[in-house]
Amino acid sequence: MQSFILETMYSAQKPSAKVTTQTLRKMKAAGEKIAMLTAYDYSFAKLLDESGIDVILVGDSAANVMAGHVTTLPISLDQMIYHGCSVMRAVKRALVAIDLPFGSYQGDSREALRSAIRIMKETGADCVKLEGGREVAESVTKILSAGIPVIGHLGLTPQSINKFGTYVVRATGQEEADRLVEDARLLEELGCTAVVLEKVPADLAARVAGLLKIPVIGIGAGPGVDGQVLVLHDMLGITQGFSPRFLRRYHNLAQEINKSVSSYIEDVKSLNFPNANEQY
Ligand code: KIV
Repeated sequence: MQSFILETMYSAQKPSAKVTTQTLRKMKAAGEKIAMLTAYDYSFAKLLDESGIDVILVGDSAANVMAGHVTTLPISLDQMIYHGCSVMRAVKRALVAIDLPFGSYQGDSREALRSAIRIMKETGADCVKLEGGREVAESVTKILSAGIPVIGHLGLTPQSINKFGTYVVRATGQEEADRLVEDARLLEELGCTAVVLEKVPADLAARVAGLLKIPVIGIGAGPGVDGQVLVLHDMLGITQGFSPRFLRRYHNLAQEINKSVSSYIEDVKSLNFPNANEQY
């Protein structure tokens, strides 16, 4: 019985068909959860796509996990486009969203449109993602007017870390929660494809998901939303010293890599590598 229900739900999307913005809406309507992960390079993007991930986010978290910055602020539009192109060369099925980096869309809506057009033209991605609600409404409208799908991002918005001063859970108070609900509704009204909710109380996130027709994808937002997103390097256990409560580690790749590299070093030093079969 349970497998029948799962099969019926999964029929919203044939596993091999290209995931589009329409697919995401259908998945929400059918109650099928959306699985989203970040990727920034060809090799990982290929593995994720072949594994059947629905959405790949070329997140500005590349600033952290690829470049070692403390915040996401330093990454440039050119660098996002470089990562986006690498991912797009690998992906056949997943929908690919690319983050508009800090400073590329907040200033004025024409600059926002220029940035979004560059991303779409130079990478071939399916849509862009940006952070904020009412304060970026003009930019969202302008980008959408060019036919570019937009994913919003509310709650903990890392590009505003200097305003927040901390990465703690957002919208725990009534005023901020009300504002978040209004912003989510606004993003839907403007025509956004989906909204990411980061690090907000689970009951608030579930309420927003219930209010909106567009999918709500959570990270640290509990199970009552329409899908989940994690940073790939966190869930694979590559990043270390970062253990928020919401993060489930599916692997300890850092340990595996350390072991492999140590064995290689030992083999080289002890003349165990290369052996007779590993030479010409
Ligand atoms: O940049 C990113 O990885 C993100 C996710 C955390 C949603 O925005």
